[in-house]
Amino acid sequence: MFIKQRKKVMVITVITAVSAMMVLSFKPIDQQEEPKKLKNIKVFPSTATFKEVDKAMDVIKVDLGVHCDYCHAHSKDNPRKMDMASDENPKKDIARDMMRMTEEMNKKFISQIPHADTTKVQMITCNTCHRGAPKPFGQPPIYPKWPGNPPPPPPPHAK
Ligand code: HEC
Ligand code: HEC
Repeated sequence: MFIKQRKKVMVITVITAVSAMMVLSFKPIDQQEEPKKLKNIKVFPSTATFKEVDKAMDVIKVDLGVHCDYCHAHSKDNPRKMDMASDENPKKDIARDMMRMTEEMNKKFISQIPHADTTKVQMITCNTCHRGAPKPFGQPPIYPKWPGNPPPPPPPHAK
């Protein structure tokens, strides 16, 4: 009976301690971090939020099969950190031109094609050409399982 009582006290003590820690770790609203701001945007619309750009970056990264530092420079103060707003890496401006080109293709050409259901017109994305490589393949892949075919070319190298 006595042991049961002590166990109960222990459990209550632990629960109280944990909930106190949880309460302490919540910051009052006016002390919460402000949403991150965009610093150097030239192609995305001015209304774009940091979250939206960040999400688009995840897609671009996969479309080209690269890491963020393929286009972004490392921070000068701390090379282990990235400086996403810097234009030091020349690939970033190539990517900006690619974004403008992709948008123009969609606006000027793809959306003008007469189509039974214009809401379902297939849009061009980075992946339409890149297919997971930083430099798109110039030829269709050759399937080695077809008898008599030469081996496929090695994939293009990043950088
Ligand atoms: C293919 C090139 C490319 C890759 C890969 C890439 N980015 Fe970007 N990123 C850009 C370009 C271009 C811009 C600027 C867009 C503009 O000017 O509107 C940009 C802008 C940004 C910005 C906004 C910086 C600012 O404040 O001005 C952030 C944040 C960012 N990228 C994060 C990332 C992250 C995180 C990754 C990896 C998941 C990544 N990027 C991968 C090309 C790239
Ligand atoms: C219509 C086809 C097409 C589309 C769409 C396209 N690209 Fe490209 N991209 C190319 C071609 C072709 C090259 C040149 C490859 C080379 O230099 O061998 C290239 C090169 C690049 C490079 C330079 C690679 C390097 O290492 O030199 C980057 C970065 C890039 N594209 C980013 C993008 C991004 C980001 C998008 C989407 C917003 C995009 N591209 C959409 C065709 C395309």
